Amino acid sequence: MTQTRHANRQILLASRPHGAPTTENFKMRQTDTPKPNRGEVLLRTVFLSLDPYMRGRMSDAKSYAEPVALNAVMVGGTVCRVEESNHADYQEGDWVVSFNGWQDYNISDGVGLLKLDSDMANPSSALGVLGMPGLTAYMGLLDIGQPQAGETVVVAAATGAVGSLVGQIAKLKGCKVIGIAGGAEKCQYAVETLGFDACLDHHSDDLAVQLASACVEGIDVYFENVGGKVFDAVFPLLNTKARIPLCGLVSQYNATELPAGPDCMSALMGTILIKRMKMQGFIVFDDYGDRYNEFKEVMVKWLDEGKIQHKEHRVEGLDSAVPSFIGLLEGKNFGKLVVRVGPDSLA
Ligand SMILES: NC(=O)c1ccc[n+]([C@@H]2O[C@H](COP(=O)([O-])OP(=O)(O)OC[C@H]3O[C@@H](n4cnc5c(N)ncnc54)[C@H](OP(=O)(O)O)[C@@H]3O)[C@@H](O)[C@H]2O)c1
Repeated sequence: MTQTRHANRQILLASRPHGAPTTENFKMRQTDTPKPNRGEVLLRTVFLSLDPYMRGRMSDAKSYAEPVALNAVMVGGTVCRVEESNHADYQEGDWVVSFNGWQDYNISDGVGLLKLDSDMANPSSALGVLGMPGLTAYMGLLDIGQPQAGETVVVAAATGAVGSLVGQIAKLKGCKVIGIAGGAEKCQYAVETLGFDACLDHHSDDLAVQLASACVEGIDVYFENVGGKVFDAVFPLLNTKARIPLCGLVSQYNATELPAGPDCMSALMGTILIKRMKMQGFIVFDDYGDRYNEFKEVMVKWLDEGKIQHKEHRVEGLDSAVPSFIGLLEGKNFGKLVVRVGPDSLA
């Protein structure tokens, strides 16, 4: 079913997953399109961003943000058109970034909306290279990682929304960049299109050996996106005074128990002490939301100069959201995952 003016399709959280999410954890509902009151706008979702953090919101474990309630609409960043406006700052037809979630329509009082230029060539890039993932890569790498020219930077999920930008920014800063990604096609793209010095497939049995050969002078910055066996391969190669921006642990998001094997906590803490390493977690909008304009100015310039490549993995229709999100947690996306929920303009 496609988007219409009269119905609001919504994807709700039906139950909390144990392990990997399944289609049974979601359900579709249809309601009437809501009406904006005075001071409000009606937003129609054109693009919906799918991101790994959504797996955390499906769980009721304590975290930095409230979980999605059962039978509530799944949360998510969106690029929308203003369909009706009773708000002085917005006109019908405006493009905005909002947090509509997995649904066709939502009402907003304007708080938290970001208006986009009406002539923006690719509005969906406001969910990727110019949006949350872009800010994450830029701030995590530069503010926490502090890469210096000549240093070795390693990043996993290297062709994804965040990782692809981390590696390219590190190259712009004069670093040697080694990516880690899932499969030959992604690794080839990281080297040939993104300009990384090398990219290794984390599915290979000898990842640790390959990584040691690629990082002959050790690792100065490890931008952590995945955790698990990738971190196990990185850890012995970290140099004294290495920096580790701890951005995400996507390989662990579906885990139901601690990984098998010895408890490595003492070894980890001992090595951090001896090598005087810095490992720092961050939550992008909480820690860096106020620096969005600074990031945007630099990123727009880099894009205009052709210094940054970005790839969108676009799927069509709200019905695609559930299988595509499940696939994101299995590495099935290739680039920033975005759902086209509706057309630019409704007939
Ligand atoms: N801290 C923050 O504020 C913040 C903000 C945004 C994102 N993040 C985090 O940044 C990371 C990347 O996010 P993104 O939006 O850029 O996603 P993404 O890289 O576009 O997509 C997720 C990728 O993770 C990799 N992956 C999935 N399961 C894996 C596994 N079991 N082992 C190894 N790799 C696996 C896959 O890439 P491969 O096929 O290449 O392995 C998959 O394509 C995530 O951990 C996310 O939670 C954090």
